[in-house]
Amino acid sequence: MVRINLGIGRADPTKRFGERTKRILDLKNDEANHITLLGKSGYGKTTIMRGMIEEIYSSYSDAGIPPIIIVIERKVDTSKPKKVVEIYHEESENLSSAKAYRKYGEGIWNYLEHYVKEIEKDKELKYGLMGDFAIGFPNILGKYTKMASDETKSLLGRHGLSPAAYPARRFVFRPRRDLENIAFDNGPLTEVINSKLAYPDLAFEIIADMNNLGEQTRYSAILKNIWDISKIRDPKEVLLIAGSSETSNSGPSQTYLRIEETMNRLKTDVLFTGDIDNSFLTKLTNKKINILDFSQNSELETYEECLIFKLVVQNAINVAIKYRIPVFFVVDEVQNFMKDKNGKWAIDKILREGRSLCINLICATQYTDNLPKDILIGSSHIGIMGKLASNTDTKTLEKLIPDFRDVVDFDEPGSLSEWENMKRKLRFRGYFSYNKDYTEHIEYRQPQSL
Ligand SMILES: Nc1ncnc2c1ncn2[C@@H]1O[C@H](COP(=O)(O)OP(=O)(O)OP(=O)(O)O)[C@@H](O)[C@H]1O
Ligand SMILES: [Mg+2]
Repeated sequence: MVRINLGIGRADPTKRFGERTKRILDLKNDEANHITLLGKSGYGKTTIMRGMIEEIYSSYSDAGIPPIIIVIERKVDTSKPKKVVEIYHEESENLSSAKAYRKYGEGIWNYLEHYVKEIEKDKELKYGLMGDFAIGFPNILGKYTKMASDETKSLLGRHGLSPAAYPARRFVFRPRRDLENIAFDNGPLTEVINSKLAYPDLAFEIIADMNNLGEQTRYSAILKNIWDISKIRDPKEVLLIAGSSETSNSGPSQTYLRIEETMNRLKTDVLFTGDIDNSFLTKLTNKKINILDFSQNSELETYEECLIFKLVVQNAINVAIKYRIPVFFVVDEVQNFMKDKNGKWAIDKILREGRSLCINLICATQYTDNLPKDILIGSSHIGIMGKLASNTDTKTLEKLIPDFRDVVDFDEPGSLSEWENMKRKLRFRGYFSYNKDYTEHIEYRQPQSL
């Protein structure tokens, strides 16, 4: 069992303003620990997931079983670099260097200065797209921002934490920007990889999906035979074989042409490589936090993201069987995967096989409405951030969590200004239901990274 710090709970759950106490979540090593986080937009789901990733990364590593953590990132958050720049200017006006060093740490403050100077020099808009999971960038914001309920403490200070960067390996597919610029935006401990799928990674069905190959066609049957049954996963060789069975002298057959078209796509598309050692799957690591960058940095269609996700899940199952190490998938905006057959396959696979292999799913979404019940039913724990997005969601959760109705109580604002104030207070807080059996109020642990 590995214990992670979840945040701060109420020592006496019946008292709203009583003493506070640290809350720990036990994660089991021999079964899955699926967690679903729900909450309206802007209340901190992504932020809190970052905190959980850090806990998992350090607690498991301390216990001597570094897990593979694979984060699926969907968005960049352009407000973060802007806030960092603002904070830098405000703090340099108000604090002496010595004080700034003491507050943020000397290394971090110097880095911040360097970062802001570079951003302000940047006239070509190379920078500014910081990922939702900039795990390699210290959380300046959390150190600077005061708690809504206690202005003497910062968000991070409240949890006894300070800003820190974590090592991250970011996988970008068909990169839209220079890799160095992506790395710069995501912090000094970020490594960026131009990620490719190797031909041998791709089962025939994947190629068929990507090229819209008709199922009942002759070219499909022939290609499947060469690619999957003879296991010849090399476009050049495939074309030689397909060519050798041509019989007519009056030019290539339609079948050959279709196969040629498919193979040419594999050869010319920068997403693919013939070099198996260069497959991004071989670069997934348990020494750093892996981030699949599906934000604007990668030029991918949604169905391609789902295919990549499926490949990674298949690969993770093999790794989990072979090396017996835990795997954590962190999937933000999980509803996006459910509309695609491969995405759905991947989530279902983690939910089902995860239990025996210790492959865990930590996911977040605003919606329970369009969320298949399987995810909520399959989750060991459910967290709520801020507020729920709709009343139907409350009803859904009441059915799943026996004590939900007794414990969970969302304040309703009486006026616009009250609503604004409330929103600030509710951010990064909510409820956590342990094993969907015991639910309590919690202030979630803040992330040390941005
Ligand atoms: N440590 C921090 N201190 C203050 N603000 C922060 C901190 N970390 C993140 N924020 C800001 O809080 C806002 C909400 O956080 P977050 O993105 O985690 O919400 P979310 O629930 O994931 O929302 P969405 O559903 O829209 O993705 C963001 O604009 C983010 O920039
Ligand atoms: Mg988010």
